[in-house]
Amino acid sequence: MTTPVLQINDLSAGYGRFNVVHDITMHVNNGEAVALLGPNGAGKTSVLRSIMGLIKHRTGSIVVGDTDVSRMPAHRVAGGHAALVPEGRRLFLNQSVEDNLRLGGMRHRRDSAKVQELMGSVFELFPVVERYRARPASALSGGEQQMVAIGRMMMNDPALMLLDEPSLGLAPLAITDMAQALVKLREQGRSILLVEQRVDIALAVSDRIYVLSDGRLIDERATADIGEDGRALIDAYLG
Ligand SMILES: Nc1ncnc2c1ncn2[C@@H]1O[C@H](COP(=O)(O)OP(=O)(O)O)[C@@H](O)[C@H]1O
Ligand SMILES: [Mg+2]
Repeated sequence: MTTPVLQINDLSAGYGRFNVVHDITMHVNNGEAVALLGPNGAGKTSVLRSIMGLIKHRTGSIVVGDTDVSRMPAHRVAGGHAALVPEGRRLFLNQSVEDNLRLGGMRHRRDSAKVQELMGSVFELFPVVERYRARPASALSGGEQQMVAIGRMMMNDPALMLLDEPSLGLAPLAITDMAQALVKLREQGRSILLVEQRVDIALAVSDRIYVLSDGRLIDERATADIGEDGRALIDAYLG
């Protein structure tokens, strides 16, 4: 039997008095990569922010591993349950690449062997990040900065990895590199929830997809079952 690392039941969430996510039930199995697709404004980022405890106004339940994180403050969710690569990366641009990585690994700060081990796994996946470790993050290209942002998330060593549109604003070659890195993370058995607008990236990286539209889930498919027709339908959903 497959066990879910993420189980969301009947989640509604929003800002102020308004819900932008309505009655969402979805899951990510252990070791599975799942993509959440949908047009701009569908509520994808809000789902990720709900998991991370960054949106207070929410009902329903969110369980990561054995833990109900629905009412947990964000800093506790980030204590090993889930870690997010946010939209736009949000690096500390005037700090070094290595310091940005260390910030991601803050919860292991009393275990320097663990920090070294995690940093080694980031450098193995992204050799260029090791080469530029002493540079300020601002000196790196967009694609390299995205690698640092993914590396910072890896430093947390979370049960569930969340990525919000990692391809956004990157050059085509950088997108290919980033997608390959996600495939490797999946091969390492990491559990991943990826938000994407690029259908080709989502299909290349994930085992299963959900489609979100106007805050509601409207489709779910195994990537392997998506033929030409399925692909055309998904493109139509995304407009
Ligand atoms: N901080 C906020 N305050 C009020 N409304 C917001 C806020 N963030 C997002 N929204 C609204 O919530 C809806 C979903 O946004 P979002 O989750 O960012 O969608 P997506 O990531 O799919 O583009 C949109 O209508 C957006 O305008
Ligand atoms: Mg978004």
